Amino acid sequence: MRIILVGPPGAGKGTQAESIKKKYDIAHISTGDILRANVKAGTELGKTAKQYMDAGNLVPDDLIIAMMEFRLQEPDTKNGFLLDGFPRTRRQAEALDELLERLGLSLDAVVELDVSDEVVVKRLSSRRVCRQCGEIYNTLTKPAGTEGVCGICGGEVIRRDDDKESVIRSRLSVFHEQTAPLIKYYRDKRLLVTVDASGAKDSIVKRLAGGLGSK
Ligand code: AP5
Repeated sequence: MRIILVGPPGAGKGTQAESIKKKYDIAHISTGDILRANVKAGTELGKTAKQYMDAGNLVPDDLIIAMMEFRLQEPDTKNGFLLDGFPRTRRQAEALDELLERLGLSLDAVVELDVSDEVVVKRLSSRRVCRQCGEIYNTLTKPAGTEGVCGICGGEVIRRDDDKESVIRSRLSVFHEQTAPLIKYYRDKRLLVTVDASGAKDSIVKRLAGGLGSK
């Protein structure tokens, strides 16, 4: 299976990716996670990306496209992949189409996680993540067992730099302006599955499985 997850920041892409990845045994590729790993490692890509990420803006297309051309040809994508956070612009979507055509591959589905801006702001303001293993927590709905300590690996649980309310609002505007138009792009290609992403995590998992089952 080759699937794209699209939705605003905080829609639950990372949270839902876990169940899809397990069900189909495919690689979960999050551009945000790759960029944060580069920031942490202090690479040239990380240094450039950080200034865009901290302001809630998109990292330039050329950098992202080059990064994904490489990542999508790694051996773990043989069985398929789940893209989380890519593509985010029309140019990225067209570059992905070209790459897949060159590789003789096609997409099976594009899942849109549909949720209101107010729910997003609430979820992101209370999100925490493990600095070490990336486990996603939430002070309201999924607190870390011991405050500040990851229950999986014992790493430090922190608030992401871009989860301040002012930056969350900028990320939402960027989503509506630059990424939301992709929903029509993929609807026109008859790949779109829209899932109501409000409510409890488990009910969304079921809706998502139902939507993908029709593909
Ligand atoms: P990225 O890391 O991709 O951030 P994002 O798209 O803004 O998405 P998030 O990770 O914030 O949210 P999510 O949808 O995964 O939600 P989550 O599951 O964590 O990108 C970061 C930055 O990198 C971008 O701003 C940009 O600068 C750059 N970048 C990345 N890709 C790029 C690209 N392709 N081009 C250019 N630049 C790029 O859930 C959120 C919270 O809600 C958690 O606390 C979770 O526990 C909780 N939650 C989830 N579901 C539920 C539920 N059903 N009920 C209650 N709480 C829930």
